[in-house]
Amino acid sequence: MGMSSSDHYFAEQPASNTAPTTHPVKVRKMNLMLAGDRGVFNHGDLDWGTRVLIENADVPTGGVLLDLGCGGGAIAAALAMLRPDADVWAIDVNERAREVARRTMILNGITNVRIASPDEVPEDVRFDAIWSNPPIRIGKSELHLLLEHWLARLAPNGSADLVVHKNLGSDSLATWLGSVGYRVQRRTSKQGYRILHVNR
Ligand SMILES: C[S@@+](CC[C@H](N)C(=O)[O-])C[C@H]1O[C@@H](n2cnc3c(N)ncnc32)[C@H](O)[C@@H]1O
Repeated sequence: MGMSSSDHYFAEQPASNTAPTTHPVKVRKMNLMLAGDRGVFNHGDLDWGTRVLIENADVPTGGVLLDLGCGGGAIAAALAMLRPDADVWAIDVNERAREVARRTMILNGITNVRIASPDEVPEDVRFDAIWSNPPIRIGKSELHLLLEHWLARLAPNGSADLVVHKNLGSDSLATWLGSVGYRVQRRTSKQGYRILHVNR
C-alpha cells in the first residue's frame, strides 16, 4: 500500500483530516507538552533521534538558532527553553506542522520561537547554531540541496548538529558534508542514531 505524496510528513498540505493531540514528554530534565497531528512527523510523540539530539548536543552559545524541519516543534521548543534569551527560528514546508509547532509553543508559554515557511526567513538572517532531525525521506539529492542552502547561512563561527540514523545514511552524509567543505565530527551514537557536528 503506497502513500500519495500528500500523505507524507513532508507534504506542504497533508491530505489527512486533522486530529490534534498533546503529549507530555520529559527531555533533558524539561517537561514539555508536545502538540501533534496527523500528517505531521511522529504524530505528536517525541522521536528517538530527536531525543538523542536534544539530550546530547551542546547547548548553543549564540543568539540566533534554527530548527531546520521543525515538524511539531520539539527541537525548537527545547532550544527556546534551554536558551530563553535566544531568537529561535523553526521552519518547515508542511503548513500543518507549522500550525502544530505554534500550538507546542503556546502550550509551553514559549515566546522566543518564530515559526515560518522556509521562504519567509529574511535573506540576511545568519544562524549561530542549527539543530535538526533532517528529512532524510525527501531523497538524497533534495537533502543535499536543503543542507547546502541552510548550512551556507551559518554565521562564521556557527555550527550545526544533525541527528541521522546510521541505517538512514549518517556515515555517507558525513562523507558528503566533508566533500563539500564542512568539518564534520561524529559525536554521540545511541541506538544507531548519530549526531553529526558540522562546522564551516
Ligand atoms: C524528520 S522530521 C523532524 C521533525 C521535528 N524536528 C522532530 O524532530 O520531531 C523532518 C521535517 O522536515 C520537514 N521538511 C521537509 N522538507 C523540508 C524543506 N525543504 N524545508 C524545511 N523543512 C522540510 C518535514 O516536513 C518534517 O517535518
